[in-house]
Amino acid sequence: MIEKTLIILKPDAVKRKLIGKIISRFEMKGLNIKELTMAKLDSYILEKHYEEHKNKAFFNDLIDFMTSGSVILIVLEGKNCIKTVRKMVGATDPFEADPGTIRGDFAHSLTENVIHASDSKNSADREIKLFKKYF
Ligand code: CMP
Repeated sequence: MIEKTLIILKPDAVKRKLIGKIISRFEMKGLNIKELTMAKLDSYILEKHYEEHKNKAFFNDLIDFMTSGSVILIVLEGKNCIKTVRKMVGATDPFEADPGTIRGDFAHSLTENVIHASDSKNSADREIKLFKKYF
């Protein structure tokens, strides 16, 4: 099934100049970039985006980190795109993420873990709608 998913390359990915390397992985996999923009996100939109983590101990650190610099917002499209991208991204904890995955290869912090990718069709639809104003 052809689907769309939302990717955020986080402030650490931008600062560490990893954007090209990460995007090229998705291109090599044959996924299509439908939208792409650089943005500085505010805590208002991030609190909506990370609503499910609102009561978690790491929430404030997460918002501080995500507002600390520019991010790259991308809408990717392709066959079984949501599951494929999640596999390519790897586990949330970079020390659990397999080598060969984006977090396994590039991330070394649980909060500053380089990339976000929608985890389901519902999340993808919701997140693409939430960030639509930036594209
Ligand atoms: P992300 O996929 O963007 O979704 C929630 C984010 O919270 C996660 O990546 C991490 O950046 C951050 N985070 C920090 N600590 C944790 C934790 N203990 N469990 C899950 N996510 C965490």
